[in-house]
Amino acid sequence: MKTILTGIRTNSVLTLGNYLGALLPMVRLANEHSKDFNVNIFVPDLHSIISDIDGDLQKNIIRTIKYYLAAGLEVNENVHFYRQSHVPAHSELCWILNCVATMGETSRMIQFKEKSKGQESCNVAIFDYPILMAADILLYSAEFVPVGEDQFQHIELTRNLAMRFNNRFGETFVVPAKTADQVKFMEVENAVRIRDLLNPEKKMSKSTAAENSKIMLDDEPAKAAKKIMSATTDSFGKVKFDMFNQPGISNLLTIESLVTGVPLQEVISTWAGETRYGDLKKKVAESVSEMLAVFQAKLAEISDEEVLRLLESGEKYANEVAGAKLLDAQKAFGLR
Ligand code: TYM
Repeated sequence: MKTILTGIRTNSVLTLGNYLGALLPMVRLANEHSKDFNVNIFVPDLHSIISDIDGDLQKNIIRTIKYYLAAGLEVNENVHFYRQSHVPAHSELCWILNCVATMGETSRMIQFKEKSKGQESCNVAIFDYPILMAADILLYSAEFVPVGEDQFQHIELTRNLAMRFNNRFGETFVVPAKTADQVKFMEVENAVRIRDLLNPEKKMSKSTAAENSKIMLDDEPAKAAKKIMSATTDSFGKVKFDMFNQPGISNLLTIESLVTGVPLQEVISTWAGETRYGDLKKKVAESVSEMLAVFQAKLAEISDEEVLRLLESGEKYANEVAGAKLLDAQKAFGLR
């Protein structure tokens, strides 16, 4: 059976960007395909400790799994939840892949460049981050890895490492699908990149300090609505979907489409030419606050015990699958 796999770091409450770019697509894919695919959803807690953690890591992990359930993920025997640090094969394969990856290709990662920029000294793990991510994917022979656009470079690196390993040491890893095919599989036109509300040239990110730049999943619905109302737009004075020249307006149209489930083209034609940006903001603010109210009510109904039960059974599966693939890689390298 083929595998779909994804993970979201749990350094804090997640943003609307994580929700629309990663959680929702995964939930849709899982519900569509979990009869014929393994659906692996894991918490990359080893990736989380690379940077500061807001609050308690254990609570954050449990909350992240709850997010998937609150977003409507239907659990069956093919859906597996696990914590990265509870499956030692991830760290071990990361080391083996470190011996295959080059400094050059890892230094080219945009996320590394952005995260290390301006820091007097940054930790080694920030540099090694995508290699651990490659291990996360290759251990489970995952073909499809639904992620937001910012992670595509890491998927390409994973593909390159898998092909290089297979060429040098014999067929060991399944090479994940090309990013263009990932997008096709997700049945979207483009991977999603939700923008910062105040500075729409940048992606919405949990690590941006300005409160009004991002919507957090635990924001009171009314507070989230206010943030949308104060979003940066432009001085063109006409609604048009044009990410390059009108990124703020285009971001609002994208959010409206994803939150309501109305296809983007339909949202674009409904609003095309509208001159009152305030009306569009009001509609998006309503849609987002309604979505948050429903999501938060569902979240409150899920118990920690239910999540812990899911994690325990998922980790049994994960250790079996990942342990067997690690052994293949160790044998290929002559370690066993
Ligand atoms: P992380 O925690 O940075 O982001 C989690 C997911 O959210 C998506 N995302 C966005 N999508 C659209 N618009 C945004 N503004 C936005 N911000 C974040 C990200 O693309 C991602 O899909 N390296 C991964 C975690 C990871 C992983 C893996 C994922 C570790 N190992 C193996 C898949 C497979 C990450 O940084 O996620």
